[in-house]
Amino acid sequence: MASNKGVVSRRDFLRVGGFGLAGLAGALGLRGLAQDNGAPTSTPHAAHEATAGGVTGDYTPASQPVMDHGGMGTVGQVDHAANEFDPHEILTDFDYGELTEEGGRAVRTWRLVAIDREFEIAPGVHFPGWVYGSQTSAASRRLGRLVGQCPGPTLRCVEGERLRVEFVNASSHPHTIHFHGIHSAVMDGIPGVGPGMIQPGGRFTYEFNARPFGCHLYHCHAVPLKRHIHKGLYGAFIIDPDPATHSGEEAAAARTRNHTYDESQAVNEMVMVLNGFDTNFDGENEVYAANTVAFAYGMERPIPIRRDQPQRLYLINVTEFDPINSIHLHANFFDYYDHGTTLRPTLTTVDTIMQCQAQRGILEFTFEGFEPGLYMFHAHQTELAELGWMGFFDVK
Ligand code: CU
Ligand code: CU
Repeated sequence: MASNKGVVSRRDFLRVGGFGLAGLAGALGLRGLAQDNGAPTSTPHAAHEATAGGVTGDYTPASQPVMDHGGMGTVGQVDHAANEFDPHEILTDFDYGELTEEGGRAVRTWRLVAIDREFEIAPGVHFPGWVYGSQTSAASRRLGRLVGQCPGPTLRCVEGERLRVEFVNASSHPHTIHFHGIHSAVMDGIPGVGPGMIQPGGRFTYEFNARPFGCHLYHCHAVPLKRHIHKGLYGAFIIDPDPATHSGEEAAAARTRNHTYDESQAVNEMVMVLNGFDTNFDGENEVYAANTVAFAYGMERPIPIRRDQPQRLYLINVTEFDPINSIHLHANFFDYYDHGTTLRPTLTTVDTIMQCQAQRGILEFTFEGFEPGLYMFHAHQTELAELGWMGFFDVK
C-alpha cells in the first residue's frame, strides 16, 4: 500500500537525533530495520555517534550501506520532478491569478482545485496527501497542466480588489476553502455556516474584497479539521497594502510591499509555510519542514541571497498537532510584522519569534556588510529542527 511506504515512527526519528544531520538519515536506516524485524530496534548510541561527516555504522543495519553525506541534511534526494513541485520554486512563486476589470473595479480570479495525491517529504518518505492546485501557479505553468502542490499556491493580491476564487473539488473527500481575512459568513468556507463541505465533483465560487492587507493563509475547514489541514490543504494568502491609503513613511513602506510598485522589485521576497507530517497517523508529526520537504534548503541546496538586497520573508505556521512553531535566524536579527497588518514592525531587532497554528508574519532583514557564507535558520525547538525544519541562506 502506497501510504505505508514511508512509515517511520516519531520515536525512530528521535532516537537518532543529531542536529539536523542524522534525523532523517537515521530514520531511513531505521525504517529498513523496522520493516525487516517487524519491530523498532534500540539504537542508544546513534545520537552521540552521528558526526558532521555523516553517520557512523553503529546503528546502520547490515543491509543498509553507510551513507556519508558530508554535511547536514538528509541522505539521498527527494525526487522533485516526481513531486512536480519544488520548495525552491514555491519559495518565490506568487500566484497573481487573472486580473480583470468590472465596472471600473479590479477583479482578481483564481481557479483552485483540490485533489488527492502522494508526494515525497523526505528521501524515500511518501505522504498520501490532499492538496490544492491552481492553473496560474509556477508549477502548473511550467508543466502546462494543473499541478496539485503542498503547500498550495501563494495567492497574492492588492488591498481593495474584488477577489473571486473558483473552487472545484476533484478529491474523493468533501473539502472547503476558508480564507483568513474579512468577508461575509456565507463566504467563510465553514460547514453549516457558509459554503463548507463542497462534495467530490462539486464546485463553489468564493467572492470577497481583499482586506485587511497582510500576510494571511487559506485552508480547508471540512471536518475533521485536524485531518483536513494536516493532509496538506493550506497555502499562503498575501494582500499587498495600497500606498494611496497611507502617507509619509508608511506610504513608502507600503510601496515596497506592493508588487505593482517598482520599489517592491528591490526587495527579495520569500514565502515559507511551516508544516509537519504525521507519517504513521499516530497524531504526532514525524517530519517537519518549511514548504513541505525536510531540509529542503539544507547545505546541498541553500537559498542564494545577495547581500546588497533587502530580504522579506512571509512566514506562516500551519503545523498541526504541535502547539507552536518558531524561527530563529543565525548571526543576524530581523524586524517582525505580526500578521503583516501593519507598516511599522511590531517587534524590532529580534532573532527568534514563535507562532501558534495559523499565526504568521513578515520578517525583514539584510545581510548587507556580512561576510559571505552559510547562515542557518531553523525552528528553535531543537526537535523540529532535527526532524527537517532547518535550512541555510547562502550569502554571496
Ligand atoms: Cu478538506
Ligand atoms: Cu484558519
